[in-house]
Amino acid sequence: MSRPGIIAAYRSTLTLPAHAIELSLGEGNTPLIPVPRLVEELGGGFDLFIKYEGLNPTGSFKDRGMVVAVAEAAGRGMQTVICASTGNTAASAAAYAARAGMKAIIVIPAENVARGKLAGAAAYGARIIEVNGSFDDALTMVREAAKKHPVALVNSVNPFRIMGQKTAAFEIIDELGSAPDWLCIPVGNAGNITAYALGFKEYDVKKKSGRPHLLGVQAAGAAPLVRGAPVEHPETIASAIRIGNPARGAEALVAVKESDGMIVAAADKEILEAQTRLAHEGIWVEPASAAGLAGLKKQIAGGLEVEGKRVVIVCTGHGLKDPDIITLPEPTRIEATFSALERALAE
Ligand code: F0G
Repeated sequence: MSRPGIIAAYRSTLTLPAHAIELSLGEGNTPLIPVPRLVEELGGGFDLFIKYEGLNPTGSFKDRGMVVAVAEAAGRGMQTVICASTGNTAASAAAYAARAGMKAIIVIPAENVARGKLAGAAAYGARIIEVNGSFDDALTMVREAAKKHPVALVNSVNPFRIMGQKTAAFEIIDELGSAPDWLCIPVGNAGNITAYALGFKEYDVKKKSGRPHLLGVQAAGAAPLVRGAPVEHPETIASAIRIGNPARGAEALVAVKESDGMIVAAADKEILEAQTRLAHEGIWVEPASAAGLAGLKKQIAGGLEVEGKRVVIVCTGHGLKDPDIITLPEPTRIEATFSALERALAE
């Protein structure tokens, strides 16, 4: 296969347990897209790339971690996976469980999951349970369920999720030749930033490839790591990162500090502006995925020095995940004739 998936591509680097099965939907190997026009808008004089994780099989970065978590669970005879999710983990768990011939149970906050994600989970055949509560409530519930029932928990508290997700850092180094100076990344449950930090660290130990400063970005209404305390009622239009008490928050804070980086908050308005700006480069991402750019823009405006640096923004999920966020323009409807088209074009 031209896209063998991350297990086949990185089996020798990942310390996968022997019982893990072969599994792939062709995840990983996503493009690193240069965006020179955006660089000029941000003041010029540096290199900027988008790591476009929305091009994974189910449309988000979750697939990298999920393929490993499901391969491991299947290999030890588990027949069912369970997760809490704001949507992307759910779709990914459902797809990889289907691929491995397993069942998936997904537990989601009622009415707070974007349509593309829910449709995916349903299409892949998952059992969907909605909770009258938050993602944080759902995570507490599934952690308990996995202790008491024969179901494999595939949230990012599962170490195999982190193992898979760190391959994105490997890919960036393999492509750039060494680590970038800055990595800008949205933060929700804080698994992904933790995985990147680990990936960069491991390659640096092995290959002296360097380590980037981490710029983690939370939504202002769901920014427990910026505030330094859990947020009881997180609120943001970026529903993927509407999380008030991140499971890997403490680890993420250590990783960010070690990298001499920072975690910042971006307002919903700034996130939506960044989403529009990325779409005008041909890169349509869901709102949470635009948080990295929103945070970078804000930091540069606040005096962050990036002259001569290489910066990578991780765009975590595809725009198709959350179609309802886009306001459709009033359509121009015309008769099916060439003259009607000419009149419309002249308007
Ligand atoms: N971006 C997107 C599109 C996400 O779906 C998530 C998390 C994140 C960023 C943040 O990643 O949690 O590792 O810090 N989504 C999870 C889910 C919570 O259930 O799909 P994180």
